[in-house]
Amino acid sequence: MKNIAVFASGSGSNAENLIRYFNENQRGAKVNLVICNKQNAGVVDRSKRLGVDCVILTKEQIQDPEALLPILGFHNTDIIVLAGFLLLIPQFLIDRYENRIVNIHPALLPKFGGKGMYGRHVHEAVINAGENETGITIHYVNGHYDSGDIIFQAQVSLSPDDTVEDVEAKVHDLEQMHFAQVIFDTFCAK
Ligand code: GAR
Repeated sequence: MKNIAVFASGSGSNAENLIRYFNENQRGAKVNLVICNKQNAGVVDRSKRLGVDCVILTKEQIQDPEALLPILGFHNTDIIVLAGFLLLIPQFLIDRYENRIVNIHPALLPKFGGKGMYGRHVHEAVINAGENETGITIHYVNGHYDSGDIIFQAQVSLSPDDTVEDVEAKVHDLEQMHFAQVIFDTFCAK
């Protein structure tokens, strides 16, 4: 049984989906840890409600191997999944978990990625650029924002009158449809 740690900073809809997918079924992996860098983030309550340990760490603690690695060690973490996590992953973690850290980005990389490109900022940029489609990208994490090898993308059409909320809802649907399945296919199906 592999152990997944989910890193999240926001409301946690993706974290919840991953927890339900893996922990309510026999999938060969389970989510046994959520790491969050924001005390008031929705993901904190969600993970507690779902019975998963949630540890809140400061940015400094996340960048400190002596603070972060013992927590992952205690939970026997095999795989790290970033689900709306807004901090850059430090190099020591990438080295320790080579090819075992995955992120979801709410657009079709390499477009609309990079520092500051998260959540609604991404959807605003997509609308302002007049794109006729957007989507999700699931990719390995390296030491730079949104530039690791791509594992999976899914697209959705946009209408000229779509608002940020409309785009967010379309992307949210794709995330709910694919994210957990892609994590399973990547790490558990072999
Ligand atoms: C998701 O849309 C995720 O793709 C995005 O943040 C949202 C988190 O929502 N991630 C990024 O923008 C990373 N650059 P959630 O807290 O409800 O899962």
